[in-house]
Amino acid sequence: MQSLTISLPDDWHLHLRDAQALRDTVPAAARQFGRGVVMPNLRPPVVSVSQALAYRQRILATLPRNQTWEPLMTLYLTDNTPTAELREAKASGQILGVKYYPAGATTNSDSGVTSLTRVHPQLAVMEELGLPLLLHGEVTDPDVDIFDREAVFIERELTPLTKRFPGLRMVLEHVTTSEGAAFVAAAPPHVAATITPQHLLFDRNQLLAGGIRPHYYCLPVLKRDSHRRALIAAATAGSGKFFLGTDSAPHPRALKETACGCAGCFSHHAALELYALAFERAGALAQLEAFASHHGADFYGLPRNTGTITLHRNAWRLPEELELGGEPLIPLAAGDTLPWQMTERSAGATA
Ligand code: DOR
Ligand code: ZN
Repeated sequence: MQSLTISLPDDWHLHLRDAQALRDTVPAAARQFGRGVVMPNLRPPVVSVSQALAYRQRILATLPRNQTWEPLMTLYLTDNTPTAELREAKASGQILGVKYYPAGATTNSDSGVTSLTRVHPQLAVMEELGLPLLLHGEVTDPDVDIFDREAVFIERELTPLTKRFPGLRMVLEHVTTSEGAAFVAAAPPHVAATITPQHLLFDRNQLLAGGIRPHYYCLPVLKRDSHRRALIAAATAGSGKFFLGTDSAPHPRALKETACGCAGCFSHHAALELYALAFERAGALAQLEAFASHHGADFYGLPRNTGTITLHRNAWRLPEELELGGEPLIPLAAGDTLPWQMTERSAGATA
């Protein structure tokens, strides 16, 4: 096969940052996707509907005129989120879901939730409203090994949560383990997961063997290869519960290459090409379209995009360096050669 045309994909989990950075991140997010679910972990975090709508305007102001792309906004859940704010979020029609960060788990999560039990009233309202909870699924208990934090979260927190709120719509964002994939596969249809390109392509050796490679450091951290293979099986099985979410999360080079570097991989320079490589290696290119372009829209009850993108088999070298708000940024798989390259995007109207 020399070329592959699929419906225009959506990115169901990404980070755009703010201010100067938007000039780089917004065009990159819009290049291959029809829509993108924008994470709210700014400093300060996006905790209210008015903040989310103002952020949406700043994003749209940097969207190139010839690009059609829609940001789908999220709210940042805190211990003190008023339930009235959740009702307003639903009524606005502009807020796709509410993001749960365990306090201290990752980048700009200091204002996150200190214990899921403290937000039971909010979760009850979200269950009633059909407002999805987007989970960063890790415990922050310092006694739990960093490689076990997702599996322990599923056992200690997520399993009880699904019993307490059986109707709550949930997405286990950037799932990284066989335990996470199995949990989602066995859960009811209103529980789904996103998967990043790095977790489909790389294991922890890529991060740590033969030298530490900070540009492969993200959270949840890359796991051993058996987990990567479980994620490939989940993504390529044709199940509507698993869909594309890059978690593209840019940090300037200086904040990655330092004694205590930030978590996050930027992947919007080659997102579809990276997923295509992972699917092709699994002999499952035919499943790429459903994963990238159908399952997420179906889960969220949104129309599928009508445009298309075309990838050609054409070996190309990924850039060594890009820019983020005037500072150097090292993208995921910098300098690697990929077999597929996006060559066309049809105009088709997005939802
Ligand atoms: O690697 C990550 N980077 N994981 C997250 O959960 C947050 C993200 C970021 O915002 O940089
Ligand atoms: Zn993220």
